[in-house]
Amino acid sequence: MERNRSNHTPKAIIHHLLLFFIFSIFSLLDCLVAQELVGYGYKVKSVKSDSSGKTLTANLDLIKSTSVYGPDIPNLKLYASYETKERLRIRITDSNHQRWEIPQNILPRQTPQKSPHSVPINDLVFTLHNTTPFGFTVTRRSSNDVVFDTTPNPSDPSSIFVFKDQYLQLSSCLPKSRSSLYGLGEHTKSSFKLQANQTLTLWNADIGSVNPDLNLYGSHPFYMDVRSASNDGKVKAGTTHGVLLLNSNGMDVNYSGDRVTYKVIGGVVDLYIFSGPTPELVMEQYTELIGRPAPMPYWSFGFHQCRYGYKNVADIEGVVAGYAKARIPLEVMWTDIDYMDAYKDFTLDPINFPLDKMQNFTNTLHRNGQKYVLILDPGISVNESYGTYIRGKQADIYIKRDGIPYLGNVWPGNVYFPDFVHPRSEQFWANEIKIFQHLLPFDGLWLDMNEVSNFITSPPTPHSTLDDPPYKINDSGVQRPIISKTVPASAIHFGNITEYNVHNLYGFLESKATRQGLIDVTGKRPFILTRSTFVSSGKYTAHWTGDNAAQWSDLAYTIPGILNFGLFGVPMVGADICGFSGNTTEELCRRWIQLGAFYPFSRDHSDKNSIRQELYLWDSVAASARKVLGLRYRLLPLFYTSMYQAHKNGTPIARPLFFSFPEDIRTYEINSQFLIGKGVMVSPVLKPGVNSVDAYFPAGNWFDLFNYSRSVSVDSGKYVTLDAPPDHINVHVREGNILAMQGEALTTEAARKTAFELLVVISSGGKSTGEVFLDDGEEVEMGGEGGKWSLVKFYCGAENGSVFLSSKVENGGFALSQKWIIDKVTFIGLQRVDGLEGFAFNITKGAKSKGKSVIKTNFHSNKRFVLVEIDRVSLPIGKEFELELRLKQDTGENTL
Ligand SMILES: *[C@@H]1O[C@H](CO)[C@@H](O)[C@H](O)[C@H]1NC(C)=O
Ligand SMILES: *[C@@H]1O[C@H](CO)[C@@H](O)[C@H](O)[C@H]1NC(C)=O
Ligand SMILES: *[C@@H]1O[C@H](CO)[C@@H](O)[C@H](O)[C@H]1NC(C)=O
Ligand SMILES: *[C@@H]1O[C@H](CO)[C@@H](O)[C@H](O)[C@H]1NC(C)=O
Ligand SMILES: *[C@@H]1O[C@H](CO)[C@@H](O)[C@H](O)[C@H]1NC(C)=O
Ligand SMILES: *[C@@H]1O[C@H](CO)[C@@H](O)[C@H](O)[C@H]1NC(C)=O
Ligand SMILES: *[C@@H]1O[C@H](CO)[C@@H](O)[C@H](O)[C@H]1NC(C)=O
Ligand SMILES: *[C@@H]1O[C@H](CO)[C@@H](O)[C@H](O)[C@H]1NC(C)=O
Ligand SMILES: *[C@@H]1O[C@H](CO)[C@@H](O)[C@H](O)[C@H]1NC(C)=O
Repeated sequence: MERNRSNHTPKAIIHHLLLFFIFSIFSLLDCLVAQELVGYGYKVKSVKSDSSGKTLTANLDLIKSTSVYGPDIPNLKLYASYETKERLRIRITDSNHQRWEIPQNILPRQTPQKSPHSVPINDLVFTLHNTTPFGFTVTRRSSNDVVFDTTPNPSDPSSIFVFKDQYLQLSSCLPKSRSSLYGLGEHTKSSFKLQANQTLTLWNADIGSVNPDLNLYGSHPFYMDVRSASNDGKVKAGTTHGVLLLNSNGMDVNYSGDRVTYKVIGGVVDLYIFSGPTPELVMEQYTELIGRPAPMPYWSFGFHQCRYGYKNVADIEGVVAGYAKARIPLEVMWTDIDYMDAYKDFTLDPINFPLDKMQNFTNTLHRNGQKYVLILDPGISVNESYGTYIRGKQADIYIKRDGIPYLGNVWPGNVYFPDFVHPRSEQFWANEIKIFQHLLPFDGLWLDMNEVSNFITSPPTPHSTLDDPPYKINDSGVQRPIISKTVPASAIHFGNITEYNVHNLYGFLESKATRQGLIDVTGKRPFILTRSTFVSSGKYTAHWTGDNAAQWSDLAYTIPGILNFGLFGVPMVGADICGFSGNTTEELCRRWIQLGAFYPFSRDHSDKNSIRQELYLWDSVAASARKVLGLRYRLLPLFYTSMYQAHKNGTPIARPLFFSFPEDIRTYEINSQFLIGKGVMVSPVLKPGVNSVDAYFPAGNWFDLFNYSRSVSVDSGKYVTLDAPPDHINVHVREGNILAMQGEALTTEAARKTAFELLVVISSGGKSTGEVFLDDGEEVEMGGEGGKWSLVKFYCGAENGSVFLSSKVENGGFALSQKWIIDKVTFIGLQRVDGLEGFAFNITKGAKSKGKSVIKTNFHSNKRFVLVEIDRVSLPIGKEFELELRLKQDTGENTL
């Protein structure tokens, strides 16, 4: 903990002095006589810290009991520890009784390395205040900026720290004008930055994402706080930290702009603060704790088509044929519950989706380089002649209530729900996957209804404070009972764990079991898409934002939705393109595929009661789809390399603008644009009937990826009105980036066989960089030991009138074995200078030029920049090279 004795104020008593100086600053209680008090708070009884200064333990005693929401817990223990150089953990629990906490075996967290001899220098300083009631603050050592501050505000009873069996209250004040918060989901929001004066409820529920501001399918009690500069200049704009309250119980989080208050109905306070200080570093530190995002197979970055309501095999064959005929890329065909026999998992409808035809269908897809993904719901039909049901019963892995399996009702009618907390459930589930996969070689699994959704609400157990807790979280925006349309909270999981405590973990645990099951049977990198998520889900699965609607508002909501999941460590995320429920229109669907082509996960999906919306059904949508998916497929190496970066460092694939431009405070408010990786910006049209878009451009030169001759240059960030005719979306790459692109194709397999083009976007003031990660796209590990992968980094800078481009290669052998070549190098953003009349190039390292390369320059399209293309360079991407591009003073020979 903080050892600096010189700068403490009377209010902020440093812990090791606490034992000697005890005085209170104000009497909070006097101010509150008129109000109903949930609690009076705690005072510090004793404090000790270990010799290393890495951990502190304090005993806290209740000041006075109240009975609102049940009795207070009299004695608490507070532990504060520096777990890593960038992570502070503060845990508060009952001193005398063990309470529910998410076990390490259920949700593995990185545990700190034991190094008792060194005190890590952490930028976060923890200070315990011996006030009445007590509070603690976390500040930055480097700037004194207050990061988290639980010091109670005398006029606000909800700022007092409260700890009851079924009600915890923890509140931190924030520097209102300087703090921008993101995260705390899952909710549908029109704004990515959290708006003040709202309650965010976290309780997993089958509520359609068409409903803004309600608790949805997942719970992520994590936020990122991006600070603007402080007046004293000590805090730089963009200084960022992250806060996780690791707690699986239901909660309301009240955000008032200058305060964030957690009201949680169980568990303990287990608070992690990540010091950043950049958004990227916060993601690295957060995912270091909860697990890095799972790598996704290369093919999953292709385009996916799904619908609830496909009638039979001929229907889905027709859809696959429709895409082929329209020459629109289709990578993956999906089926919703229609394929099942009476909605039973791991069965096929014998009439409409019979096994032999489905096998032929799947094999045909595979022959064409395409894939097949099908849905599973967790509820197992109660049916004595159904193998899966019988095996589950024999394994005794169903969730119970009153000693017998709890009977729910979902699509198949009566169901039991597998208890994924049960150690035998993984084996049961994996075995069912194996049996079915051997019948029908599907490529991935889609996990729906796993909040867990139940069509009935069972009556509460009389007098059960689990089924009917004293504090009502704002479930579904109406403080609906938490047992509504799910498994009742009093139901019991393995080890006598209540549904009350593990409710929010259901979809997370199902994803974990499914991932293991798929690896066991296929030996390949699995693809899983889940609706319900929790902290750490990204380690196992991808996510889609659930049941949206074919409305313009929902199109716009998808950007905050996708960006949030990036922050939650689930970078592979998308929304149903063209809208799930309701009837889409040609214009909406066209604009939606223009945006959706750049979602990390890109899938068109519609409801049974909606009109069909496959992309080939309207000529204008088909034409736009060919154009935008064409660019997506050329950018597949970027998507995949961003996946690699996510897997290695936790950085999202689709990123908010402030990730690359943290010092530009205007980026904090942006809801309608995002980046892929660090430098490709997508600025979609989100409104009907318009042919232009006001897009924000952070400082720099930006080039249109559909036409390199078009550019936007801004000295400081500003909004620019861009043309956005009906068939066009604006996608720009910023100066300073080098992109490895491949050719367009109808499948990712075919795209991977095309040559690379290096797009070098010259930086006006420094070097350009980029990288590409290459492997077979389906090894379980990504970039793991064994080295069946290559990582190629590119650098470009100017010197003495020449431009030098070079590569550094890690594990080049893999790329060489695949015979991948760079066939074209395109330089854009070269400043036009007087007397410049041509270019010549020379490959000074790497493959010898075979004498057939062609250099083309384009002086005409833009007054300011010159475009240089070098064709047929034939550089093996796995081999390091250096290329010099020289200015030529005389006209004439452009061909070497
Ligand atoms: C939030 O509520 C407070 C107090 O009612 C008010 O002063 C403030 O303007 C509100 N902020 C927003 C963004 O609505
Ligand atoms: C949220 O907190 C603010 C300030 O603490 C308070 O005024 C407001 O009533 C709270 N809102 C809800 C819904 O609890
Ligand atoms: C096999 O599937 C292909 C396309 O999916 C179809 O054209 C063909 O008729 C099918 N054959 C059988 C025997 O069902
Ligand atoms: C049980 O499953 C069998 C086989 O799929 C089916 O024929 C039967 O109708 C089902 N029974 C009930 C009650 O759903
Ligand atoms: C519950 O949520 C609804 C919908 O967002 C909101 O209107 C209402 O004020 C909230 N109630 C409380 C008590 O927070
Ligand atoms: C299970 O937990 C309940 C309280 O949640 C407790 O009353 C009961 O004794 C426990 N049963 C066992 C077998 O541990
Ligand atoms: C969607 O279109 C279908 C077919 O035209 C129509 O039957 C249905 O009522 C429409 N649904 C809505 C919500 O408008
Ligand atoms: C690219 O943009 C330039 C400048 O606006 C324009 O002259 C040219 O026709 C465009 N090229 C294509 C292929 O659209
Ligand atoms: C190309 O580079 C090599 C190695 O630096 C040098 O020997 C050669 O003269 C250069 N050729 C041209 C045409 O500049």
